[in-house]
Amino acid sequence: MCSYILIMSRVKIKEVLGLAPQEKELTVKGWVRTFRNNQFIALNDGSTNNNLQVVADFNKIDETILKRITTGAAISATGKLIESQGKGQSVELTATTIEILGDSDAEKYPLQPKKHSLEFLREIAHLRMRTNTFGAVFRIRHNLAYSIHKFFNDKGFVYLHTPIITASDAEGAGETFKVTNFDLKNIPKTDSGEIDFKNDFFGRATNLTVSGQLEGELGAMAFGDVYTFGPTFRAENSNTTRHLAEFWMIEPEMAFYNLNDNADLAEELLQYVISYALEHNKEDIEFLNTRLLDEEKQKPQNERSEMNLIEKLKFCTDNKFERRTYTEAINILKDSNHNKKKKFQYLINDWGTDLQSEHERYLVEKHFKKPVILTDYPKQIKSFYMRQNDDGKTVRAMDILFPGIGEIVGGSQREERLEKLETRMKEMNIPADELYWYLDTRRFGTCEHAGFGLGFERLVLFVTGMTNIRDVIPFPRAPKTCEF
Ligand code: 4AD
Ligand code: MG
Repeated sequence: MCSYILIMSRVKIKEVLGLAPQEKELTVKGWVRTFRNNQFIALNDGSTNNNLQVVADFNKIDETILKRITTGAAISATGKLIESQGKGQSVELTATTIEILGDSDAEKYPLQPKKHSLEFLREIAHLRMRTNTFGAVFRIRHNLAYSIHKFFNDKGFVYLHTPIITASDAEGAGETFKVTNFDLKNIPKTDSGEIDFKNDFFGRATNLTVSGQLEGELGAMAFGDVYTFGPTFRAENSNTTRHLAEFWMIEPEMAFYNLNDNADLAEELLQYVISYALEHNKEDIEFLNTRLLDEEKQKPQNERSEMNLIEKLKFCTDNKFERRTYTEAINILKDSNHNKKKKFQYLINDWGTDLQSEHERYLVEKHFKKPVILTDYPKQIKSFYMRQNDDGKTVRAMDILFPGIGEIVGGSQREERLEKLETRMKEMNIPADELYWYLDTRRFGTCEHAGFGLGFERLVLFVTGMTNIRDVIPFPRAPKTCEF
């Protein structure tokens, strides 16, 4: 009895493909990718990108069952694992029993066994996870998330859950989604005609968080080293390949860290998680690498990348990131031929202008040819909480710029001096009374501290070599896009 259960329990295909041929029967379950010659099933169960070849023994399997083995159908197959006759795999399963678990009408199934465009697949995001490309992307995404937790756990960081609903706009950019349970057809107003938030659910105006940083700082003042890893929301109307309205962010915050310590940690984290994916998602990355090489073949020689995906990832893990100040970067950009020949859409003329993605990518891809950490940005283009430098013009900010991505990390050493912070908040019209709790950390036991935010999807974009951020999150949210 016991051995029967053992034989019949399902084995995942990833494991099956690593087994030697054997007498013992085993059962696999998955979805049919293709069915050829009324005999050969390519079966995938999501545990790996590789399909298991299941050979239907048509002496033993009923004609009516064979007819129902169609692309997309869920089946269970039981049989012996034998050495494969065909090429491309070392073992295959000769199925003596096949059970149809869920039929799939081949005429109506949107995923045909052919190459679909990423644009088309985005429209059927509820099914695209069943393709090789998205299977690889989301398994890599999983391992990146896991390795991030592992990295911080191994270093003794506390994972702090910061709130999703808040009453503050941490970045002060005003790009928040409002949270309310008002009847939108009948919003209570005060005598002076303003929205009466006193009658709203929380008794005040609230929004979805744009960053967990401010609460993270409270945690750092108690535990020393904390991080948050959660969804953040921005109502910025950026219809680009690098922006989402809902994205995940990793935000560590460390007491007794200055900006250099902060940059060291960010660099170590990025190199660790990229190495982790290279080691644990070898097949998926190799698949995406080949996919990209095929795509590149369509391009003229001079537009092809110098490095393939795997080389690019290894390049980042094996080389120190270049560290420069904003001022140095501006001078490089200003003097570049690109600027002189007016090849930038936004020309660099003056110190103080914010860098656009085209400038960031120029620095990384053309000038330094490696990831760059830029520090000490002008205070007027950065948030109120960044530590002010003695020059009165710059703050202890850092952005990490990556090839093909531009900004992947934004962070800073924080202003720990109460008076300086209050003055800056006044200058920037940040209401100090509402942020009394934040200022309390400066009143009671303040200390040097720093932190950063790593955009998770930008990281996944880099590691997978995908080009549109909407293709690395299962269900993307962007302007006019909120399906599923
Ligand atoms: O530079 P940002 O706005 O920094 C902060 O939110 C700080 N509070 C972080 C901190 O110091 N704790 O955002 C951090 C990172 C960016 O570098 C980028 O990678 C990503 O978050 N990001 C986005 N990713 C996808 N879509 C968007 N709309 C993004 N906005 C920022
Ligand atoms: Mg930023």
